[in-house]
Amino acid sequence: MITCSAPGKVYLFGEHAVVYGESAICCAVELRTKVHVEKSESIIIESTLGTTGIDHETHPYVSYAIEKMQQLANIEGVRIRIESELPVGSGLGSSAAVTVATIKALDILYECGLSLEDIAGKAHEIERMVQGNASPTDTYVSTMGGVVMIPQRKKLPLIECPIVIGNTNRFSSTKELVGNVAKLRSEFPEIIEPILSDIGQMSLLAEKLVHENDYETIGKLMNVNQGLLDAIGVGSAELSTLVYAARNNGAISAKITGAGGGGCMVALAGKDSTSAIANAIEDAGGEAIITKNTEEGVRLE
Ligand code: PMV
Repeated sequence: MITCSAPGKVYLFGEHAVVYGESAICCAVELRTKVHVEKSESIIIESTLGTTGIDHETHPYVSYAIEKMQQLANIEGVRIRIESELPVGSGLGSSAAVTVATIKALDILYECGLSLEDIAGKAHEIERMVQGNASPTDTYVSTMGGVVMIPQRKKLPLIECPIVIGNTNRFSSTKELVGNVAKLRSEFPEIIEPILSDIGQMSLLAEKLVHENDYETIGKLMNVNQGLLDAIGVGSAELSTLVYAARNNGAISAKITGAGGGGCMVALAGKDSTSAIANAIEDAGGEAIITKNTEEGVRLE
C-alpha cells in the first residue's frame, strides 16, 4: 500500500485581489489529507462521504484524478481510502489537498514519473473541471508546500509563529463571492480597483517583511487587508466576531482567509497567546484549529 499526504493552506494576504492579477501570499499549513492506495479487483473510493466506485457526484476530485491517471497508466482496479484533517468546503484547500495526494499516490503506485510541476498542473485541471473557474493557488501550494507568493510562484521563508484558524462552520461559495466582487468592481471601478491594487501592494511589502521575520508589521498589514476585504463585501458578522475575539486575546493579526462570506479566519499568534486565542474563538462560537505552516508539500508517508 502507498500512502501520500498533502497540506491545506491559508492566505496571509491577497485573496480576491489575486483574481485580478495582483500578488498574494499563501502558506501551506500542517493540516493534511492522507490518501492510501493499493491495487485491487475494481475501483473503490472510501471516505467519510461513503464508499463508491468512480462517482463524480460523491467523490468528484478523486474520480477525475483516477481518470486523468488512466491516461498515463493501466489502472483497472485500485482501492483508495481518504482521511482528512481539513474541514471540507471552508476555504482551507481540502479539495486541492485530496486531489494532489491522490495523483501523487497513483503516480508512485503505477510508476508514472510525474514531476511536482506535473502534479500541480494536473490537480489544477481537475479543480477547474469540478469547480469551473479555480485559480492555481490551492493546488500549487498544496503540492509545493511552504510560503508562496502568487502569481510569481516565489518561495518565501516560513512564518515562525503559531497560526490559529477559526472556522465559522458556515458554508461559503467561492464562485458566488468572486462574482459579487466582480459586480461591485464593475459598478464602482474607480473605488474598487484601487482597493484591489492596495491589497496587492501589501503582499509586495510583506515579501520583504517575511524575509526579516517582522511579524508585528506583517500583522499590522494583515489587519489592514482585513479592513479592505470587509470593504469589498466579503466579510460576515460571524467572521468579524472571530477576528475581534482573536485580536482581543493576543493575536498579532486576524483576518479572513479565502473567499470569505463564511468559512475561516486566520490569526498569527503572539508569544504564549495561542491557547487564549483558540479559547476566545471557541467562546465566540467558532471552531479553533491551532497549526503552523509547513515547508512540506505533497509527500510519501
Ligand atoms: O476560499 P478559497 O480557499 O477557495 O479561496 C478563494 C480565493 C479567491 O481569491 C477568492 C479566489 C481564487 O480563485 O483565487
